[in-house]
Amino acid sequence: MNSPVRFALIGCGRIAPKHINALAKVPQAQLGCVCDLEESKAKAIGEELGVPWYTQYRDMLEHEPVDIVNVCTESGNHAGVAIDVMKKFGCNVIVEKPMALRLSDADAMIQTACDANVRLFTVKQNRFNGPIQLLKRALDESRFGRVLMITSRVRWHRTQDYYDQAPWRGTWAQDGGCITNQAIHYVDLMQWLGGPVSSVYATSRRFLHHMEAEDAAVATWQYQSGALGAFEATTCANPKDLEGSITVLGEKGEVEIAGFAVNQVRTWAFVDEEPEDKQVQDTSYVPDSVYGFGHEALFRSVLQSLVTGQPNMLEGGEGRKALELVTAMYESMETDMAVKLGTTYPHSRLGGPDVS
Ligand SMILES: NC(=O)c1ccc[n+]([C@@H]2O[C@H](COP(=O)([O-])OP(=O)(O)OC[C@H]3O[C@@H](n4cnc5c(N)ncnc54)[C@H](O)[C@@H]3O)[C@@H](O)[C@H]2O)c1
Repeated sequence: MNSPVRFALIGCGRIAPKHINALAKVPQAQLGCVCDLEESKAKAIGEELGVPWYTQYRDMLEHEPVDIVNVCTESGNHAGVAIDVMKKFGCNVIVEKPMALRLSDADAMIQTACDANVRLFTVKQNRFNGPIQLLKRALDESRFGRVLMITSRVRWHRTQDYYDQAPWRGTWAQDGGCITNQAIHYVDLMQWLGGPVSSVYATSRRFLHHMEAEDAAVATWQYQSGALGAFEATTCANPKDLEGSITVLGEKGEVEIAGFAVNQVRTWAFVDEEPEDKQVQDTSYVPDSVYGFGHEALFRSVLQSLVTGQPNMLEGGEGRKALELVTAMYESMETDMAVKLGTTYPHSRLGGPDVS
């Protein structure tokens, strides 16, 4: 198939340029149209790119033939928009993280994709970072022996102006706090690399920002494998982003991927060395922001799956795993108790009560 795969963008806010610039680098991907409820935003991007722009996505999808829709709206309405787009227009969807704020909404999205026979992908761009791909391969090849501990730190800087930029930021109904908005990428990496988690215990604070949800949190995890996890997230680092890192300690190796967006190999050491270990530093890079460069590889992967029909690691249920961990951590913060995964989380305030 050589005809372009046509993408449509819903939501022309902060993350939109990442999608636009990344798609521009993917041969066969064509951004066909854009939409934002705010006319000035849609018009500015539409005119700059020379593509039709709309303020109502239903209007856009009625007029523009597209293959896949990028949902880049506020987190709290990802589910409503994505379900509508899949059900009413039969389009594939790629939804920004977090895929939804309630597990019941994530389940409804996954079910809708199945019923409408379309594909549903969630953005997890950090999985595509070169150092993270190498770490995943080392784990898959059992180079660590028994994995003992997986720890992650997200120490980022967000000003009050950032939270004041839009009324949804930092609210329970539309966003959540630092573990949902910023650190969910790292929650995802901890579970993608370490496997299923059996229980979590978490504590949080709202230290420096006027917002509903937390701006700092710490948590311990127990993995089903018996490994231990430790997780730390904050948007209170001052005066700038300090760190976005993950460490895996095993019986036979230790790896730390650091920088401010898991972009640099800080430590790569194994008892049993391999010749290619000497080259791992070549995968380190310096990103332009904490968002990193992973969107391009992610879109290539999605496009490849659409064209070939092959399964993709970013599909439906994958986005739900990180959301469930975040929800379980909120449950633990509210109850001050360790929370088992795979249950219900009635005290989590994220997105409103979970009715799943
Ligand atoms: N992957 C990443 O690293 C990353 C980084 C930043 C943001 N995000 C995610 O991207 C999403 C958007 O974040 P943002 O910072 O760009 O937000 P933003 O507030 O800057 O932009 C959201 C835009 O969506 C528009 N919108 C809302 N509902 C709409 C609708 N029904 N139709 C058309 N437009 C609509 C709003 O008018 C707004 O312009 C969030 O879910 C966020 O978590 C992901």
